[in-house]
Amino acid sequence: MWRVLVSDDMRLGEVRYPGVLLDYRPEIGREELLEVIPAYDALITRSRTQVDAELLRRGKRLKVVGRGGVGVDNVDLEAASRLGILVVNVPEANTRSAAELAFGLLLAAARGIALSDRKIRAGEWDRKFLGLELKGKTLGIVGLGRIGSQVARFAKGFEMRVLAYDPYIPKTRAESLGVELLEDLSDMLRQSHFLTVHTPLTEETRGMIGRRELYLLPRGAVVVNAARGGIVDEKALLEVLEEGHLFAAGLDVFAEEPPPKDHPLLQHPKVVLTAHLGANTLEAQDRVGEAVLERVVRTLEGDLSYAL
Ligand code: NAD
Ligand code: MLT
Repeated sequence: MWRVLVSDDMRLGEVRYPGVLLDYRPEIGREELLEVIPAYDALITRSRTQVDAELLRRGKRLKVVGRGGVGVDNVDLEAASRLGILVVNVPEANTRSAAELAFGLLLAAARGIALSDRKIRAGEWDRKFLGLELKGKTLGIVGLGRIGSQVARFAKGFEMRVLAYDPYIPKTRAESLGVELLEDLSDMLRQSHFLTVHTPLTEETRGMIGRRELYLLPRGAVVVNAARGGIVDEKALLEVLEEGHLFAAGLDVFAEEPPPKDHPLLQHPKVVLTAHLGANTLEAQDRVGEAVLERVVRTLEGDLSYAL
């Protein structure tokens, strides 16, 4: 019998596997997780659970970690590899939803949608607010992978000019999307009225959009981060917003999640926020849940084709 622990909110679907005992504990806390993990052959998570070296070491029977989604920045891949624990993810299942949310934040920031909503509820009928139109503007995309590419397609539909900075992809991918791939990030920033980041969080991307980069954007630009907290430096973003250089920002992700209640970006009127909801649609979560369970079971059975 394989014992599989699910430590995050998931929609696992109807399919169950003989010989697999599932424990669904989406609210489990760190201390309890450390206590119970030795009993499990596999752990399935999203971003809530920090799958660090300590947790992996405690998992004496642990053979597989399944990440329900794409980002594995919450999994210590090095420690897993040292301990012979395989890691699988479902990178393609939430692409569409994440791209739709990123574009939604972009529109919401450009048109003051959340701001107007708050004002009306507070009894203020403010029709003086002037937003920004997307048509004819330039969108800069950092990271033209699955999600970045889908955002580019949406932007084309809005008749935007689309630029991308991604040193790891062939020019042909950008060309096939009608996107201009630039070799220099600064060059792209200088031209981008809208900026959206779609890279993983790595040593290289942490803080890659800081004060200097934000000031390279044209005055009145809009910045969206629906990838990972910290790719756009939060302190710099706040400063540059307060100094009036940016029109607005949209954030789905935070350096610390949930962000502290007194986080100044949470109070800022020009920032529209969502609670790491990029992958949270019924459709994406059905795909993610079914696929991650299937991949974990297949990996436990010896199929190595999904292992990272
Ligand atoms: P992907 O691997 O398809 O694309 C990432 C792209 O970033 C790649 O093309 C890669 O070459 C590029 N890249 C890496 N380092 C870079 C750098 N230093 N500069 C420029 N480009 C760089 O991944 P994806 O499926 O598009 O997902 C991207 C990220 O979005 C995930 O890693 C995850 O962190 C985040 N995400 C967030 C949500 C959410 O709920 N908000 C949902 C899904 C994914
Ligand atoms: C991901 O990396 O797939 C996202 O952060 C979404 C999620 O964790 O559900």
